[in-house]
Amino acid sequence: MKFGYFDDALHEYVITQPDTPLPWINYLGTQDYYAIISNTAGGYSFYQDARLRRISRYRYNNIPTDTNGRYIYIREKKTGEFWSATWQPTRTELDKYTCRHGLGYTTIQSKFLDIEAVTTYFVPKDETLEVWDLTITNHRDKSVSLSLFSFIEFNLWDAMDDATNFQRNLNIAEVEIEDQVIYHKTEYRERRNHFAFFACSEPVSGFDTQRSKFLGPYRGLDRPLVVEQGKASNSIALGWSPVGSHQVELKLAPGKSKRIIFLLGYSENRQDEKFDPPGSQNINKAKVKPVIEKYLQSKNIDQAFNELKDSWQEFLQVCQVNTPDEDTNRMVNLWNAYQCMVTFNMSRSASYFESGIGRGMGFRDSNQDVLGFVHMLPDRARERILDLASTQMEDGGAYHQYQPLTKRGNDAVGGDFNDDPLWLILSTAAYLKESGDFSILNEMVPFDNQPGTESTLYEHLQRSIEYTLNNMGPHDLPLIGRADWNDCLNLNIFSTQPGESFQTAPLKESGTAESIFIAGLFVLAAKELSQIAEQFRRFEDAQQYKFAAERMSNTVLGAGWDGEWFLRAYDAYGEPVGSQVNKEGQLFIEPQGICVMAGIGLDDGKAQKALDAVNERLATTHGIILHQPAFTSYQPRLGEISSYPPGYKENAGVFCHTNPWIMIAEAILGNGDRAFNYYKLICPSAREEISELHKCEPYVYAQMIAGKDAPNHGEAKNSWLTGTAAWNYVAITQWILGVRPTYDGLEVAPVIPKDWDGFTMERIFRGVKHVIHVVREGEGNQVELTVDDEPVEGSIIPLPDLSKEKVEVLVRLL
Ligand code: GLC
Ligand code: GLC
Repeated sequence: MKFGYFDDALHEYVITQPDTPLPWINYLGTQDYYAIISNTAGGYSFYQDARLRRISRYRYNNIPTDTNGRYIYIREKKTGEFWSATWQPTRTELDKYTCRHGLGYTTIQSKFLDIEAVTTYFVPKDETLEVWDLTITNHRDKSVSLSLFSFIEFNLWDAMDDATNFQRNLNIAEVEIEDQVIYHKTEYRERRNHFAFFACSEPVSGFDTQRSKFLGPYRGLDRPLVVEQGKASNSIALGWSPVGSHQVELKLAPGKSKRIIFLLGYSENRQDEKFDPPGSQNINKAKVKPVIEKYLQSKNIDQAFNELKDSWQEFLQVCQVNTPDEDTNRMVNLWNAYQCMVTFNMSRSASYFESGIGRGMGFRDSNQDVLGFVHMLPDRARERILDLASTQMEDGGAYHQYQPLTKRGNDAVGGDFNDDPLWLILSTAAYLKESGDFSILNEMVPFDNQPGTESTLYEHLQRSIEYTLNNMGPHDLPLIGRADWNDCLNLNIFSTQPGESFQTAPLKESGTAESIFIAGLFVLAAKELSQIAEQFRRFEDAQQYKFAAERMSNTVLGAGWDGEWFLRAYDAYGEPVGSQVNKEGQLFIEPQGICVMAGIGLDDGKAQKALDAVNERLATTHGIILHQPAFTSYQPRLGEISSYPPGYKENAGVFCHTNPWIMIAEAILGNGDRAFNYYKLICPSAREEISELHKCEPYVYAQMIAGKDAPNHGEAKNSWLTGTAAWNYVAITQWILGVRPTYDGLEVAPVIPKDWDGFTMERIFRGVKHVIHVVREGEGNQVELTVDDEPVEGSIIPLPDLSKEKVEVLVRLL
């Protein structure tokens, strides 16, 4: 069953009923000011950092689900009947409802008693505010008198503190009202120099800023007293819970519409310009007033909206495909690319599954995110890589997370996730191949953000490799530390205390547990660094990294091979994990993917064997599960992985992030049908028909789909913020469609299904549009290349002549 449809022409997903299986969300904002918005206008907003600068309040674990957001109540004066323009929070049965999630905007339309309301929410480019652009239309043949009530609940900035520190927080709220703009200024009197504002384009007949006055005692947002009575109370919040609400009176003749704009925004003042007049406690509004004035005018809103749309088109233009498969087209051309931009912005911080206070920017996560968006925004990829490298430590290890506002490594989480530093090489390699900008390697970057410790980014990459080499175990395989990519394989922790973090509890053991996954990742990274060194004319280094990769490959083929597949690890007792000798967890997906991607076992049939084992034992109709058999009981020597009920998360769920590794591995072995089949299993658009089971949004990937050991096999969770976005994008565009940047030009090496007759791709690379036509003439993957009518040896389109506008490429697949 579906709950909507893709409007491919308008670049929107259209939701046609409000009670989707879970709230289906979208993101607004591209830089600094961000908002999460659900299909019924739920969600919250923040400036830069979802934990430290939360603008509006949202309660996770809410009942009914998803009730706090950007609400507009509509009340008919004559009857006193009221409802919501976006279904929530009154949940009135509407005569018509649609939600259109687009790129950086969401439009919710409702119709009730012949009154239509259409609200578009978006954040203008380069502004720190969001627009609620409402048009209300009277479709009756009589005129109607309506009262509108807007509503937002303010957060007291630090979302963690806001949700816990009530003895203080219930005393500090402050607001100001000037020219009918509501200013939220809690703590402005002391150490903050920022405030929020909530403005309305129409004359207001009243307002409210104290939640208790707006709601009335023991009422929910579905039945606020003020709305029920049709009269704002003009409350001024002091302490308790500050909100913003405007009352607007409207009289609409038959067939007439009215457009009303609300603005919710954030602004900062310089320390010495905070107050006006100086010495008072009033916010100095000189800077913010012109901004408010500008965006309360509809012509400026229209312009800002068009600019936003244009900028998205610009990003997406970089890679557009036309294949025989509709799901592929819409994911690559739009939704997957869009999700990559969102994961880049959010890392794993704020979604409907990530509370915005738990995790900052992940080191390994953010480096992998770069792989999916670097072609759209190389400059910001550059900045991100340098920020990440600045949280690396002198020994090459890395902080596992950092806070986006401070860009400092998170001490509470620390380091010792031994795969972390290697991902920095992968992101840098992707940036270099895409942009050709080798100057990044000479950038001076500190360690742990400490001034005086700067060295070149190139040296940071070298330290990443050294970190692995300095942390090797008894089989000459890399030590795992707290965990590798699989955060839940905690071989050194032996946690038995409830509530203790499986990742950051004191290490009980070290020096024995080794990871074959890290070994594979090391080979991949060392080969990349060897190529970088070659390009950077550090030929000796290049040799050395190549040699290190070879040596590690050989170790993996020996101590890391279980007979039919790659082992997963050795535990703290030196016993194998992911081996036929184990009762549970015999075969794990991660090393099969990463080792084949690294080129290990390609020559001696081991790679093929490993992938066959994955196909036989791990592939299901809902994707490839993480391991088999699932762990049926908790085992302290393995950690969190065995804490989950079988089929969930890392305990044999379909952990979607890993599936594209297998797609890539299959493509490397030339198995296009298998690779593409795996692609389709977890492709959100291809799962739209089973939305009732899948539950999450059909336009973005989720982190996890319940595995076959779970009763609800096929049910997805944790949508949006997952490395799945970047890796699937890489798998489909670079390995299945096979168009990938190299140092010498764009390579075209498709490994597509046998029954495709070809596809086309338009790819802007190094500023030049490459129009690539792939035509299947035989059943294989062999490529014959013609560039601007000239035959070219091999599969790489030479770097384009920059004076050209475009290059025409014909690829015959034989
Ligand atoms: C989560 C984490 C990621 C980790 C994965 C597997 O998605 O964000 O860093 O690799 O889980 O445990
Ligand atoms: C939990 C999750 C895992 C995630 C980790 C991050 O362990 O299961 O997916 O990576 O938390 O801290």
